[in-house]
Amino acid sequence: MTHRSWLCLLILLVLTACSAGQAPTRVPAVEAPNATLIAGSIFVPTITPTFSLSSVSFSTIAPTKLGVAIPTSAPGGDPTRGDQLFHDGPGCLTCHDTTDNIRIVGPSLVGVASRAASREPGKSADYYLHESIMDPNAFVVPGFPANTMPQSFSKTLSPQQIDDLVAYLETLK
Ligand code: HEC
Repeated sequence: MTHRSWLCLLILLVLTACSAGQAPTRVPAVEAPNATLIAGSIFVPTITPTFSLSSVSFSTIAPTKLGVAIPTSAPGGDPTRGDQLFHDGPGCLTCHDTTDNIRIVGPSLVGVASRAASREPGKSADYYLHESIMDPNAFVVPGFPANTMPQSFSKTLSPQQIDDLVAYLETLK
């Protein structure tokens, strides 16, 4: 366990010990928001996709995220190779249209380059497109089912192939 993980565990134990000693009925109602705030300020920063404290389960908070590290493109992503891969490779074509704005299983990717930057606050188009391929449930497009896009592309595609796919998707304005 990392130093930080031990610290979190310690804080958790102290909090648990403190709350165990209090009779809930004697806590004035006005204190409840403070307790929430304190707990939130301690725990929220620790809930990240790379969090690895195995003794505490956050599965109710992020049940479907894969916890893979999402990169942005290295130099050399090739849209032509990406186009070829998209249409001949791991099956993107079977679920996604790229020309006619029609829904197959997933959304049409016409215009995905234009909307990618505004899908998630603070995340660039390039990051979002990597995330969409590598950890599809991190953001589920409204109106579409979660757990439908394969969850395995971060393992079955190389970083170069993913960059190529992203370079291709960035041409779909
Ligand atoms: C079995 C069907 C299926 C396959 C195969 C598939 N996807 Fe998807 N994809 C979906 C579904 C359903 C969604 C919408 C739900 C979500 O966000 O996970 C989606 C969402 C996306 C989005 C987000 C679109 C947006 O408007 O924000 C991108 C980008 C994407 N897929 C790219 C790909 C690429 C690239 C491949 C191939 C490597 C691929 N998908 C393969 C079903 C699929």
